[in-house]
Amino acid sequence: MKRAGRPRRRALAALIPDEPGILVDVGADHGHVASAVGAIATERMPGRIGRRDVPWVVADGLAPFRFVDTAVIAGMGAHTILGILDRGPRPRRALIVHAPDAPATLRRGLAERGWRIDHEMLAPEARRYAEVIRAIPGREPSTGAHLDLGPRLLVSDDPLLEAHLRVLCAHLSGLEAATRDRDVAKHATTRERLELVEATLRARFPEAHEERPHDGE
Ligand SMILES: C[S@@+](CC[C@H](N)C(=O)[O-])C[C@H]1O[C@@H](n2cnc3c(N)ncnc32)[C@H](O)[C@@H]1O
Repeated sequence: MKRAGRPRRRALAALIPDEPGILVDVGADHGHVASAVGAIATERMPGRIGRRDVPWVVADGLAPFRFVDTAVIAGMGAHTILGILDRGPRPRRALIVHAPDAPATLRRGLAERGWRIDHEMLAPEARRYAEVIRAIPGREPSTGAHLDLGPRLLVSDDPLLEAHLRVLCAHLSGLEAATRDRDVAKHATTRERLELVEATLRARFPEAHEERPHDGE
């Protein structure tokens, strides 16, 4: 396999199953991942078609394919990815996805659509960490904050996990303060996620963890 370039692209490539079958990279853009993994590349905008050493199809999502076994749908919003899945066809073997805007929304949407989170990896990107997810057909047993934050990620040995949780901790602490007395539902969800992040940091990285100052509640 050729190298896929930057860490996030390498993570996408690393999560492709050994026998992917008919493999499509939706919204392949430059085509670097498709080239590295031997995928058919698609783009809905003809002007965005990239490198010429991969086969390209101009299309909305997976629509022109009768069957797809494995799909990569990455670097798009969670709702865009879920919309592409809803229009089908449904990949038969695996999905490799990454939604920079809302990984929790993506995971919940996958679980609702009968996808089980099978493997997750982190990759440094833009001062935080891209959450790259592989899902396979099946029932996802996790719910709530565990599902939102990544059921496989939280128990993984990913070398970036501690740094990722610290970034999340800072972000969620700010959001918790900003939503207090303003948005009850968002505050409760944020608090649940923050408590899980803190508990995971304490359990997985006990020596490095410093307690958050008591917030007086
Ligand atoms: C930000 S780029 C991400 C490129 C690459 N997948 C990655 O992860 O680096 C998103 C690409 O998805 C394409 N795209 C968005 N919606 C699409 C759809 N419904 N069907 C095909 N391509 C789509 C856009 O044209 C754009 O090139």
